[in-house]
Amino acid sequence: EKGGYDWFMRKEIFEQPKAVADTLLGRYTAAGALQLDELHIGEDELRRIDKIIIVACGSAYYAGLVAKYAIEHWTRVACEVEIASEFRYRDPIIDGSTLVVTISQSGETADTLMAIRHAREQGAKVIAICNTNGATIPRESDAVLYTHAGPEIGVASTKGFLTQVAACYLLGLYLAQVRGTMYDDEIAKVMEELAATPPLIQQVLDSLDAIRELAARLVDTESVLFLGRHVGYPVALEGALKLKEIAYLHAEGFPAGELKHGPIALVDQGVPVFVVVPPQGRDQLHDKVISNIQEVRARGAFTVVVAEAGDPEVGAYADVLFSLPKVSTLLQPLLAAVPLQMFACEVATLKGYDVDQPRNLAKSVTVE
Ligand code: BG6
Repeated sequence: EKGGYDWFMRKEIFEQPKAVADTLLGRYTAAGALQLDELHIGEDELRRIDKIIIVACGSAYYAGLVAKYAIEHWTRVACEVEIASEFRYRDPIIDGSTLVVTISQSGETADTLMAIRHAREQGAKVIAICNTNGATIPRESDAVLYTHAGPEIGVASTKGFLTQVAACYLLGLYLAQVRGTMYDDEIAKVMEELAATPPLIQQVLDSLDAIRELAARLVDTESVLFLGRHVGYPVALEGALKLKEIAYLHAEGFPAGELKHGPIALVDQGVPVFVVVPPQGRDQLHDKVISNIQEVRARGAFTVVVAEAGDPEVGAYADVLFSLPKVSTLLQPLLAAVPLQMFACEVATLKGYDVDQPRNLAKSVTVE
């Protein structure tokens, strides 16, 4: 059932173009308008929302962190993202105009379930983004937007994560459409770009030959740092989580701008630092991240850079470079996460670990 792959995780990494395409399928019109009739929450109700809180655990939480950038940008509604196990214990400010979006691949995670029960008791509307039909979390939510990733068997989420980002983007664009915060042609343009990502994910998958060699080179390293900025920051967190989960390797993700406020003290000769570089654009983010790569390299870091193809500035500072097809900043996580997933899979394989069933972890954690 692994379809010729050694691990379900590897199979699931390769299924991502289809998983994302299936998640988008049927949810927009030929003109690029969002059509999420399945939501069953009235448009008036969605117009009254004045705050969005995303609650989730693990990779789903990181998908939520990515989504925050897009949702706030598109809808101009304040969006918080919170670890589900922290949520109800801090007396969060919730009322009838709060929209809680919960993200869970399994739909059975107890921490997440408890969080949404609390939110509904306080009068919030809850939309679940879930991969499992009829699971407890969607059943206990007001509405559900299913990801269509197909069953995810590997404990470390891969296609689950990518499809969660895609589903959150559909929801964000839909809210922008209902609330009139974007023009129809703007929505159509983003939707067109989103719909065009599956073959680009495939291109990334086809370009990962160097990963095995990189994994062999770093297999005995003690610690790996991941840096990113804007939506690249949660991608860095997700890259680090994959290494912890399956390769039992200490790894941490940081916002690149925080480097100088502490983490750079960790950088020493040969320390591997992965850097997700934002696309070249009008803002200064790209150049600032390039400076961060120079800074860690000057202190001896071994730099692995994930950047847009043709970026003329990264080559000089990258010990190893992974190129991504050109997309806009908000869509880059759908591509940039892929080499990081594969890297973790290769390191864990080389170490001889059970990639699909890492020690101490369960695919779905049904206790708080
Ligand atoms: C963890 C899994 O325990 O639960 C992670 O090991 C997963 O891989 C997290 O991201 C959240 O799970 P779910 O099913 O709620 O998305």
